[in-house]
Amino acid sequence: MHFSKLTAAVVISAAILIQALNTVSYSDPGSGLEISLAIPDVQSAPFPLYMTFTAPIEVGWGGFATGGCMLRSPLIVAWPNNNSVTVTTRWAKYYHAPTPYLNTAIAVKSSSVNATHWTATFLCSKGCSDWYGGSIDPSYNNGTFGYAASSEVPAAPGNASTAIRFHDLAYGHFDWDLTKAKNPGSTVFG
Ligand SMILES: *[C@@H]1O[C@H](CO)[C@@H](O)[C@H](O)[C@H]1NC(C)=O
Ligand SMILES: *[C@@H]1O[C@H](CO)[C@@H](O)[C@H](O)[C@H]1NC(C)=O
Ligand SMILES: *[C@@H]1O[C@H](CO)[C@@H](O)[C@H](O)[C@H]1NC(C)=O
Ligand SMILES: *[C@@H]1O[C@H](CO)[C@@H](O)[C@H](O)[C@H]1NC(C)=O
Repeated sequence: MHFSKLTAAVVISAAILIQALNTVSYSDPGSGLEISLAIPDVQSAPFPLYMTFTAPIEVGWGGFATGGCMLRSPLIVAWPNNNSVTVTTRWAKYYHAPTPYLNTAIAVKSSSVNATHWTATFLCSKGCSDWYGGSIDPSYNNGTFGYAASSEVPAAPGNASTAIRFHDLAYGHFDWDLTKAKNPGSTVFG
């Protein structure tokens, strides 16, 4: 686990202001999937999640488990779709292919795909920090999250509800100090 600064370009009136965010990141050494998170300076859920997924092109889809494991929390899943990236959410009640989860609002802020990698920065403004039966504590210094990666891009990558294949490349857990991800006064969450 390491911490890094994520740079986002924010256009305010005519001026361009480069805003450095406090983020926490996890990079899976096996698949190369890297996930980073920035949150606002709040004391409790609900709050928005500002995230970046970056992965080698060999990763067909990458996923993030908001509740730490696959079951019963929103799973944020992203995959390359031509030269952009589709970001969507799933929910699993059992250990098989999760179904689309419709209680979130996600806006992709930027994405790109090149010969070696794909990346997407997105804001989940609703439904990713709290859900039926759980929530993320933004002040917890050791929050457990999960990740997964598959070698297969979904068959219909332009369809956010398309079926996803098994996470054959990687899956597991990591812990984040969420106090390091807080951003007082940042406008990226709005
Ligand atoms: C993929 O992107 C290229 C370049 O922008 C575009 O010409 C092409 O139509 C796109 N293909 C699909 C299937 O969207
Ligand atoms: C491809 O995309 C990755 C992820 O955004 C970036 O780090 C890398 O520099 C890009 N490669 C080229 C040749 O632009
Ligand atoms: C964080 O929690 C994990 C279990 O999820 C534990 O192994 C680790 O020691 C904890 N780290 C700290 C700093 O408390
Ligand atoms: C998207 O995929 C879902 C799940 O396979 C399917 O039910 C739906 O009809 C697809 N939508 C389109 C527009 O193809």
